[in-house]
Amino acid sequence: MIGVNGSNSSMKSLVDLAEGEISREIFVNKDIYEQEKERVFARAWLYVGHESQVKKAGDFFLSRMGEESVILTRDQNGTIRVFLNSCRHRGMKVCRYDEGHTTAFYCPYHGWSYGLDGELVAVQAYEKSYTPPFRRKDGVSSKSPRSRTCAGPSGPLGIRRRVLRRLSR
Ligand code: FES
Repeated sequence: MIGVNGSNSSMKSLVDLAEGEISREIFVNKDIYEQEKERVFARAWLYVGHESQVKKAGDFFLSRMGEESVILTRDQNGTIRVFLNSCRHRGMKVCRYDEGHTTAFYCPYHGWSYGLDGELVAVQAYEKSYTPPFRRKDGVSSKSPRSRTCAGPSGPLGIRRRVLRRLSR
């Protein structure tokens, strides 16, 4: 395995511009993969889905942002939301279906539940189980990353609007 420290010279050794060839190392090198996540995907808007996939309030589907599973929903107000598919308690996935329709997402581990906007809405046995009780509004809601819907050129499938999400790290 080639050690890649991010220097221009080591990166250039993997690309032969004259021959139009690249080393297969770029597909398997863990250092390159980590740099790609940091330098490309952590800074760019990422396509996570098409708004036609969540036509009605309560529709959802799972997507990915790099290695992260995310839920894209349309909330009760018709706003499209994107948030991590991860319970704020211990990180369990709160959604295990690829797509569907729901009123909330329930964590199967300890029963915390989240609204269509990703906010924590209920904690099972809250009074008995969490002493001292935490303030549910403080830091326990499933914070949504920045997301936006943008108009784009009509693609071959007639796609006009895309939902994009930016990794904010
Ligand atoms: S991990 Fe989700 S409720 Fe505990």
